[in-house]
Amino acid sequence: MRRILIDADTGIDDSIAILYALASPNLRVEGITTCFGNSGAAQSADNCLRLIRLSRCGYEAPVVAGAECALDGGRGQAPAHIHGENGIGNVILPESRQRPLDMDAADFILQKAQELEGELTVVTTGRLTNLARALQKDPRLPRRLRRVVCMGGCLGVPGNISPAAEANLHGDPLAADLVLRGGFPLILVGLDVTTRTFITEKNLLETEAHCAERSREAVAYMREALRLYFEFHRRTEGMAGRCFVHDPLAMLIAEDPSLGEYKMLRVRVEHEAPAFRGMLLTDGRFQSGMDHDEISVCVRVDSDRAVRRLFSVFQ
Ligand code: BDR
Ligand code: CA
Repeated sequence: MRRILIDADTGIDDSIAILYALASPNLRVEGITTCFGNSGAAQSADNCLRLIRLSRCGYEAPVVAGAECALDGGRGQAPAHIHGENGIGNVILPESRQRPLDMDAADFILQKAQELEGELTVVTTGRLTNLARALQKDPRLPRRLRRVVCMGGCLGVPGNISPAAEANLHGDPLAADLVLRGGFPLILVGLDVTTRTFITEKNLLETEAHCAERSREAVAYMREALRLYFEFHRRTEGMAGRCFVHDPLAMLIAEDPSLGEYKMLRVRVEHEAPAFRGMLLTDGRFQSGMDHDEISVCVRVDSDRAVRRLFSVFQ
């Protein structure tokens, strides 16, 4: 059983990653911190509380609303046509009685890391602002964590927010730079693999047909929310009845890293030149100009196995 803390900007794909984590028998969600991105951090926290209720997971994972802006004060948010006005495809889920914890998200991450010394995996599916703030508060954090898995970045494929950058790194490049060269035992799951992995209409039909009773509401929600996400992929990528698997893939890899193949690289994130904001910079030279620790960048993934596993927990 892996003990995980999720840091999310709870949009449509984040919500599927969260529902997966709550349903998987191999994962225990020790807490969820939220960040601005697909919607505001407070809205994301509210989405998480509703998703926890919807999941019928049998426990109340604590939720903490985190950063409403980037380290440099920027507040760029995804337009509503991607994840809806509320981040979860405009689906109105039943309200939860659970309330968010009234504490700083960075402090919550530090507290959990200390409490679960060496055992906690942090999975980030949004901007890295909360994790960067936690690192700034306590530089010992990387040694306290078992692993960090981040959805973000692109190496050999174009970006999705600019030719050079992926949205999560672009949204707070300074935070991303601090985290990716911060000495964490880190796996980066970027567009190179997430845009090679698809959820299709057929996956949803099959999951509905074989759905476990306890997951019926969660599966109905996914279907409804994905309608908007499929439409976004149709308009921007010319894809019919399918979408990329960004955040759920990071969650699946956090649970089982054998799904991917990795390259060990020293990376930085550009945060000064506007045209290259959020771009991943690597230095693979024998005598590298970067002297911080390497991270594992996921370069290939077994997409079929990943998607099969994603839906298996709801059946
Ligand atoms: C990332 O951007 C967000 O819109 C998605 O939730 C995902 O985390 C993909 O670039
Ligand atoms: Ca996200």
